[in-house]
Amino acid sequence: MAEKITLSVIKADVGGFVGHSSVHPALLARAASCMAQAKENGLLVDAHVTHVGDDINLVMTHRRGVDDDSIHKLSWDTFVSCTEEARRLKLYGAGQDLLADAFSGNVKGMGPGVAEMEFAERTSEPVIVFMADKTSPGAWNLPLYKIFADPFNTAGLVIDPRVHAGFRFEVLDLRDHKRIIFNCPEELYDMLVFIGAPGRYCIRTIWARESGMIAAASSTQRLSHIAGKYVGKDDPVLIVRCQSGLPAVGEVLEPFSRPHLVAGWMRGSHHGPLMPCSVEGATPSRFDGPPRVVGLGFQLAQGKLIGPQDFFADVAFDRARQLANEVADYLRSMGPFEPHRLPLEDMEYTTLPEVTKRLAGRFEDVK
Ligand code: 13P
Ligand code: 13P
Ligand code: MG
Ligand code: MG
Repeated sequence: MAEKITLSVIKADVGGFVGHSSVHPALLARAASCMAQAKENGLLVDAHVTHVGDDINLVMTHRRGVDDDSIHKLSWDTFVSCTEEARRLKLYGAGQDLLADAFSGNVKGMGPGVAEMEFAERTSEPVIVFMADKTSPGAWNLPLYKIFADPFNTAGLVIDPRVHAGFRFEVLDLRDHKRIIFNCPEELYDMLVFIGAPGRYCIRTIWARESGMIAAASSTQRLSHIAGKYVGKDDPVLIVRCQSGLPAVGEVLEPFSRPHLVAGWMRGSHHGPLMPCSVEGATPSRFDGPPRVVGLGFQLAQGKLIGPQDFFADVAFDRARQLANEVADYLRSMGPFEPHRLPLEDMEYTTLPEVTKRLAGRFEDVK
């Protein structure tokens, strides 16, 4: 069997330019130089540095498997190095996602978001790396459901014999730290009971049932659960493999043509439409948004990242952006009212305890 390759996508916000809008070029240059050095010393096969909004994304290939200490340390050190640059430029929220003082073996639980998968490279290996800003890991539930379980989205589920057998979904309960695996299509209705609540249940991994191949892996870290207080939203990443027994590239992109509502946006406390955009267009501005998703395609060739193809730069997604702007207009008109503003328990910011305490004496019993 061919030697396996690992694709690791690790991201962090270590300082915004300006506010929470984008990443300063000096930080991207610093990250690129750390990656180049790791390629030179043989740790990495290849790397691509990019960003969505204020998040730096490191797309890396190597031969060391998932959860590898030295790959995670490389990412941590890269983000620490970028933070120095962010401090020098006094960028906003410098070091925001680095929650620990020192690296301790694995970046999971320390702030950065991680999606990784290891596989034997196929004859042709098209992959898409999705990265979102101003939202959280549950944002992938709806598109992943459509890609891997909805025949109205994915024609292959009906007409491709290798896709027809369906997919296995690993779903995490982020609150009680449990996981469950659903076999679809037969367990679709059971699965939807959970993944329809994306603030608590998140799809982490998907496998093809016919071949057993890993098809998708997402980041599921929630910073608010790690830090216990507001530390920024947990802008998530997702890797999806395509074609030859898996959904085609166009089937994987299709759900993003209709922006769905996600939690995040201003102060991580509002619902807004997930707008597909190019890397260049990934500069959330209006009310710090609307939330963005970028989709970068690569062909892997002996672990080399051939690409990227910036899919949402295509004019075919213009109408989705227009619809997202219309939905944004409509939701913004609700101001501080739910459901534009998140329910009390999901808000990243709240004055509720302080105001409740101050007014405690004025609340009277109602007979
Ligand atoms: P594969 O069966 O090789 O994935 O090709 C299908 C396709 O590209 C349809 O768009
Ligand atoms: P980020 O999570 O992208 O840093 O955004 C935080 C925020 O408060 C936006 O208004
Ligand atoms: Mg930020
Ligand atoms: Mg961000």
